[in-house]
Amino acid sequence: MAENPILLVTRLLPPDIEARAARDYQAILNPDDVQYDGPALVERSAGADAILTCSTERFDAEVIAALPESVKALATFSVGYEHIDVEAAKARGLVVTNTPDVLSNATADLAMLLLLGAARRAHESAAMLRENRWGRWVATELLGTEVTGKRLGILGMGRIGRAVAQRARGFDMEIHYCNRSRLPQELEAGATYHEDAEEMLPGIDFLSINCPATPETRHFLNAERIALLPDGAIVINTARGTIVDDDALIPALQSGKLAAAGLDVFEGEPDIDPRYLEIENALLVPHIGSATLETRNAMGFRALDNLDAYFAGQEPGDRVA
Ligand code: DGY
Repeated sequence: MAENPILLVTRLLPPDIEARAARDYQAILNPDDVQYDGPALVERSAGADAILTCSTERFDAEVIAALPESVKALATFSVGYEHIDVEAAKARGLVVTNTPDVLSNATADLAMLLLLGAARRAHESAAMLRENRWGRWVATELLGTEVTGKRLGILGMGRIGRAVAQRARGFDMEIHYCNRSRLPQELEAGATYHEDAEEMLPGIDFLSINCPATPETRHFLNAERIALLPDGAIVINTARGTIVDDDALIPALQSGKLAAAGLDVFEGEPDIDPRYLEIENALLVPHIGSATLETRNAMGFRALDNLDAYFAGQEPGDRVA
């Protein structure tokens, strides 16, 4: 009987995923969760038939070119795959897969948590209480922004964007969206389509960023586009930090042009722009959009399903290269 393929798992993953990987592959695990990048990542891949990576490892053209010949497939434990040079992978014949669908609900839940939390100043309120600064109930204190009836603009109406829209409708929000193409009516579900973001931004109270990070969306939210938002608008980002220009968002929060922001992702994370930490009207969480046990397990199983299909000689369901 042929031996199970050798699978390098780059990071520590939840136990059920590692157990399945160890059952079906000769799995090289990383129990101490050491970060391997560049040449160290290449060195660690020696002898592997496939790699199960996270979005924290960069597979740029250089790393892909240096990978041992034995590595045939790269499954990422993420829906986003901007950390992988897909063109370089294609050129080398490296099969690449991601994990769409399974994290849409968890990520949309977090977008709503940030939306509501930023609107209602949840972190400022919690900090006041924990730091023993709550003197007494004050009618004029910690006043936030009402969500009911407000206009939510969603940038990127894919699976996650639509899950955000579905939840926001439960709060009686009016949904607008900007997407590369208009959705069919049943997916649009009454939302207003805007071909151009510039047309959408002046008419919304909340902006939720849910598009992929691409060269086209890099620094989408810049000073010019923030200026188009109404004063007091609120920005939520659960997609990727690179979509926001921090040098534009931070001053807009400091000046009060924007009432608040709820951010799960940051350019250069985990080394975020330190100015964010000084801003009271920014609700910040550390890239936890998919962080439920159910979702993380589903992501791992989906990544393994893709690898299983590849090694069974089938087309993996979520192939992106
Ligand atoms: C994703 O799946 O892209 C999440 O952001 C985790 O990286």
